[in-house]
Amino acid sequence: MLGVVFTEFFEMVESKFGYDMVDDLIEMSTSESNGVYTAIGAYPHEEIVEHVINLHKKTEVPIADLLRAFGGYLHSTFATNYSGFFKAADNSFDFLESIEKYIHVEVKKLYPNAQLPSFSSEREGDKVIKLHYESERSMGHLAYGLIEKTMEFYKEPAEVIMENVTEDGSKVTFTITKQ
Ligand code: HEM
Repeated sequence: MLGVVFTEFFEMVESKFGYDMVDDLIEMSTSESNGVYTAIGAYPHEEIVEHVINLHKKTEVPIADLLRAFGGYLHSTFATNYSGFFKAADNSFDFLESIEKYIHVEVKKLYPNAQLPSFSSEREGDKVIKLHYESERSMGHLAYGLIEKTMEFYKEPAEVIMENVTEDGSKVTFTITKQ
């Protein structure tokens, strides 16, 4: 997993729970990196999972909610650092379709060691899109937060429903209905 995901995660923890919580998570960590991450490095995916589980233990906020909030936080980072991807799409559905076709393709070119999910989608009329997420890392709740913020970003209020297709969360379907 790219270092930028870790640096953003700790920024979110600091802004929502304070610096002491960052300190606690680093102390609790059994990972090799010892809490030292650089945005351009790459680290085992298991390390972010460990930090999220520890944050859950400390705060009692459900893991799904922590990941979803992190997705929302990451969205603002992407909107600032990769604004071109947002400008390239006129509306939320075009943007969501462009993740698989364009955005993650470009991300992979920039960072060949990035581990990305795959998406397929189908539209059902003008107001509904179904987005199918697939990843062995089972980070559907992160996608949930990213999708919710995407709808807000394009000022297109919508209902986003997430359904697990497989029990382990490696396949998830989102049904996004514009209001
Ligand atoms: C400008 C927009 C975006 C950029 C630049 C971007 C880039 C990235 C990057 C750099 C990673 C980390 C890869 C790694 O750590 O190895 C990632 C992971 C991920 N992205 Fe995107 N992304 C964007 C939009 C989205 C959106 C809107 C969604 C939601 C539908 C999404 C879903 C995910 C998920 C769920 C992961 C975690 C890895 C996994 O589940 O396997 N991304 N993305």
